[in-house]
Amino acid sequence: MREPLRDGHGRLIGDVRISVTDRCNFRCQYCMPADGLPWLERSDVLRFEEITRIVRLLSEIGVHDVRLTGGEPLVRRDFPKLVEMLAAIDGVRDLSVTTNGYLLERDAAALVAAGVNRFNVSIDSLQRDRFFEMTRRDALPRVLAGLEALAAHPEAHPIKINAVALRDFTEQEAIPFAEFARRNPYEVRFIEFMPLDADHTWSRDQVLTGDEVRAIIHAVHPLEAEPREPSATARVYRFADGQGRIGFINPVSEPFCGDCNRIRVTADGNLRTCLFSHNETSLRDPLRAGASDDELIDVIRDAVWRKELKHRVNDAGFVQPARSMSAIGG
Ligand code: GTP
Ligand code: 5AD
Ligand code: SF4
Repeated sequence: MREPLRDGHGRLIGDVRISVTDRCNFRCQYCMPADGLPWLERSDVLRFEEITRIVRLLSEIGVHDVRLTGGEPLVRRDFPKLVEMLAAIDGVRDLSVTTNGYLLERDAAALVAAGVNRFNVSIDSLQRDRFFEMTRRDALPRVLAGLEALAAHPEAHPIKINAVALRDFTEQEAIPFAEFARRNPYEVRFIEFMPLDADHTWSRDQVLTGDEVRAIIHAVHPLEAEPREPSATARVYRFADGQGRIGFINPVSEPFCGDCNRIRVTADGNLRTCLFSHNETSLRDPLRAGASDDELIDVIRDAVWRKELKHRVNDAGFVQPARSMSAIGG
């Protein structure tokens, strides 16, 4: 057994988020520009064998939880094949996918059969016109059909729903989502808007905080806090009458960096130690230059040792990273 992966602040790293493509079939306001972004060259994107090797090495140093993201992961050709390759790695314990849901009706069964344990689906509004306004795609009915396709696979539950919370938009969504979470076995999580939008128009006054959304819901449907899991992104609450759960991901108003156990790999094979990193470390280059397993692990350990203590979103002089969310991986 190799030494577990640790950063220079003593945090054990157990979770990797891998972006399998920078492409996306949506154009969410808080992420992408209306016209999209220039996509990576295909030859720059990690091949399935390369992703599998990286995940195998990570699993040997204690990284057992793997989340596949994008862009939109389901637009990557033969994505279920990649899932199957990753699920076959001994050390992979939790293999999950974050998706916009558009292709779930097509792929849910294949992905579950290939080994996905859990899905998180992004839905910002339960009203069709407002969903369109936010994602620039008239896709709510299709995403809801995707959720139903997942409902048929209890082995891949619980299903979580992610809604980015924006001021002057999400106030109206809070109660409908709360009621949705009470009627269905979904944990809805509201995510504070982070400065990772491609248009670089983020401003603090657009952030509707988790506490604000919680107050709106609590006034109608009282909430009780559940015990907090240290490295989790979400603070979870149950409805006081026992019917349903709801979560708040508050990276801006209540940063959770102290217990962060995550690293990320971009679609072009760069290791990022924080969503807000300004530096990336190529794993693809040494891998394609013929590095041995030990050499690759050394590259990983060295980069992770320098993992940021915390993000600086709330500091004066904060500078947004050059890459935006879809290019980093959610
Ligand atoms: P679960 O394990 O199911 O709770 O998933 P998750 O919340 O870790 O993953 P998901 O892909 O659903 O991400 C939800 C939101 O949390 C997204 O907006 C992510 O960008 C954000 N997020 C995930 N990890 C981090 C992190 O380390 N730091 C910050 N600031 N945001 C994160
Ligand atoms: N701030 C917060 N969350 C974001 N996401 C995308 N861009 C942002 C942003 N700027 C969310 C997506 C998805 C998850 C991977 O990240 O809605 O649920
Ligand atoms: Fe695509 Fe996700 Fe970005 Fe929306 S948030 S444009 S679904 S990558």
